[in-house]
Amino acid sequence: MSSSPRDDAFIRLRDVSKRYQMGSTPVHALDSVTLDLPQGQFVAITGPSGSGKSTLLHLLAALDTPTSGSVAVGEWQLGALDRDAQAAYRRSMVGIVFQQFHLVPTMTARQNVALPLILAGVAPEVRQPRADECLAIVGLADRADHRPSELSGGEQQRVAIARALAPDPPVLLADEPTGNLDADTGAQIVHLLEDVHRDQGRTVIVVTHHFAEVEAVTERRIQLRDGRVANDRARAPSTEAA
Ligand SMILES: Nc1ncnc2c1ncn2[C@@H]1O[C@H](COP(=O)(O)OP(=O)(O)OP(=O)(O)O)[C@@H](O)[C@H]1O
Ligand SMILES: [Mg+2]
Repeated sequence: MSSSPRDDAFIRLRDVSKRYQMGSTPVHALDSVTLDLPQGQFVAITGPSGSGKSTLLHLLAALDTPTSGSVAVGEWQLGALDRDAQAAYRRSMVGIVFQQFHLVPTMTARQNVALPLILAGVAPEVRQPRADECLAIVGLADRADHRPSELSGGEQQRVAIARALAPDPPVLLADEPTGNLDADTGAQIVHLLEDVHRDQGRTVIVVTHHFAEVEAVTERRIQLRDGRVANDRARAPSTEAA
């Protein structure tokens, strides 16, 4: 089912290629990728280093544009956006979580979470409670006044997830969100992503080198190899016996 293109799918990639020219050698970071994702799916993207995982997330985040093909998310045709429209898309449609957290070191947890709301022009009396609400969702209500250097790695990643959730985006993109964390802390982050998917109904796309870590919670695994979809397998919800 998942392999036949559907124009009503929420996320639609059609024949998407991304090429970089390195001197005389072209690098095919993505090579004719066609994918459909329904709204609310929890998807794992796996594959060897250099297979195109981050490139795919960057295209979905409108941080980059394809060399050819089309990427659409909901009503947004990402190839047709100018810079302002790309920024508007990012503010309203996607939250992004990176391996390196990327928090502002001089700001408290609360200020970091409120930052995307400031950029979106949300009034202070709305954004402060929203920032606190998001910190509570990730279990860090009591760390709101800590700066990143006063937080553990796992706590910093939870702040980054709270920041991504603050504008209430329908899509959460996470690129190796547990890559800098020990196994137990990583498992906590995976469970938090599961809550974000299940309780809040968001589409969550997580890139990981450790599929075992997310196998029990994700509904679908898309394996990339050399910029192509090598395997795309849906999985029944985790209540089913292995
Ligand atoms: N800005 C760029 N210029 C040139 N080549 C690039 C650029 N960005 C990525 N590439 C190349 O595109 C390919 C895919 O890169 P990408 O970062 O998507 O891989 P990845 O699957 O995320 O790998 P990793 O698991 O190591 O993070 C790689 O061969 C990489 O060297
Ligand atoms: Mg990567």
